[in-house]
Amino acid sequence: MQTNKEVLLRISNLKQYFPIKGGKVVKANDGISIDIYKGETFGLVGESGCGKSTLGRTILQLYHQTYGRTMYYGRSLDDLAPGYVIKTIEQLPKLREKWKELEQKLQKLEHEYAALGEKEKYEKHAALDQTRKLAEDAMLNITKIVGGFVSVENLDPITAVYKRAYSVSREIAKLDNQLAKAQVNYECAVYDVKNKKGSSKKVTAAEIRKKAVECKIASRRTEMDGIRSELAAMREKLKDDPEFLKYEKYRDDGIDLARLTYNEMRTLRRDLQIIFQDPYSSLNPRMSVGQIISEGMAAHGIIRKRDKRTQDMVLKIMNQCGLAPYFIHRFPHQFSGGQRQRIGIARALATHPKFVVCDEAVSALDVSIQAQIINLLQDLKEQEDLTYLFITHDLSVVKYISDRIGVMYLGTMVELADSQEIFDNPVHPYTEALLGAIPTTDEDSKKELSVLEGDIPSPVNPPSGCKFHTRCKYCTDICTKVVPDWEEVSPNHFVACHHKLSRTHENKE
Ligand SMILES: Nc1ncnc2c1ncn2[C@@H]1O[C@H](COP(=O)(O)OP(=O)(O)OP(=O)(O)O)[C@@H](O)[C@H]1O
Ligand code: SF4
Ligand SMILES: [Mg+2]
Repeated sequence: MQTNKEVLLRISNLKQYFPIKGGKVVKANDGISIDIYKGETFGLVGESGCGKSTLGRTILQLYHQTYGRTMYYGRSLDDLAPGYVIKTIEQLPKLREKWKELEQKLQKLEHEYAALGEKEKYEKHAALDQTRKLAEDAMLNITKIVGGFVSVENLDPITAVYKRAYSVSREIAKLDNQLAKAQVNYECAVYDVKNKKGSSKKVTAAEIRKKAVECKIASRRTEMDGIRSELAAMREKLKDDPEFLKYEKYRDDGIDLARLTYNEMRTLRRDLQIIFQDPYSSLNPRMSVGQIISEGMAAHGIIRKRDKRTQDMVLKIMNQCGLAPYFIHRFPHQFSGGQRQRIGIARALATHPKFVVCDEAVSALDVSIQAQIINLLQDLKEQEDLTYLFITHDLSVVKYISDRIGVMYLGTMVELADSQEIFDNPVHPYTEALLGAIPTTDEDSKKELSVLEGDIPSPVNPPSGCKFHTRCKYCTDICTKVVPDWEEVSPNHFVACHHKLSRTHENKE
């Protein structure tokens, strides 16, 4: 169970729309907000097509995120200093203008809304809510990055400092790459000498090169520290200004993955990995186990291809994942499903990630093998200090492995609570129905969840109001018109349903 509550990923209003023919879009994820805590396993459940895989992949930015923020706290914004920070500063006058316009529009709408009758309020509620969200987003998109600086009139000195931060951080990123290579070269030279194949001159030369890069990095880091102190001093000067303080509290040191460039995201890729469902199709049949596992490590500069040390490192990870050393030269078709999944896990863990999406990682396996792989994932999580997003349609699996569980329906999150709480006190009618249909035999457990009467509506044209209303036995008039709010019904237990009050556990008896 998780012991701390440090957030690793904060997902806010995430939307992933896929364009399809006829100018329409599939709303695969439609405004999802969740926190994922460091060290927890977050279970994600829901019927086929509800958007689970899309959410996992969008968080990892394997899709270009349509809307919303995906904040990552595994590294700091200052350390990466991505391009979007400097862009925000440069465009601040224009962005402030837009934000002001939205605020004015919101004020006008709120004024008009207050004068409406009950029935009209019903109808206008959604439009007002949307403008409110847009205005809030506009404000947060700026203040999360620049904090109280948003209220400063003369931006020139601030812009100048941020520009320097940006260019120094790019240099550090380049030097970090050079250092990874220099490090591998050095260790290879040492290895050669040990095995009586190389000269000590090569070791000295490699060491000198490595030291030179280290030296450059150190001087750039000192420069970066100086820049940070300058920014801190600028903030200190403004600390008595109430306008500054009003916005400074929103400043956020996380990295918004959705706003990174391809290259910036590349530097974070090794932190964020995925294990796929199908161990048959996700492994390249023409590569040996050793090649499959070492590929990612080479791409991230952890090893050099054809480096002699590679084998030792690959064998270590294989051993951790329960794969015998002599498997290293074999090909995927020579393995069983469970063994292939171990290879997929070893590949994902080879870069020492911080966060791993397990997308139906055990669903294709026999029940007895499932238990072995789940145990392996649990052990690795402890050893490597990992955080999981564990996606599955199998509720019995998710109960066993998860600290918390999120239930998705048609692209939105409908309920979220601690694992035990979801099973003991489900509040959302959809969760209740899913739990009522937990399979009791092994054969049943392989089937997709499809437990409710009626078809799942299309995510191209989802139902109005509560998306579940077309299949919900508790549906009333309001459900068909108004989107239910996401509210906390008991500590850490969130539900989106209009009739949750009559459905919380105090009232269920
Ligand atoms: N690349 C894509 N282009 C268009 N539509 C897509 C794409 N990927 C997913 N979808 C659609 O988005 C919706 C959500 O799909 P997703 O694969 O995320 O569901 P899922 O919950 O993972 O389902 P399953 O349990 O079957 O894996 C579906 O309607 C799907 O058809
Ligand atoms: S909001 Fe209404 S339709 Fe939706 S789940 Fe709750 S009771 Fe059912
Ligand atoms: Mg899926």
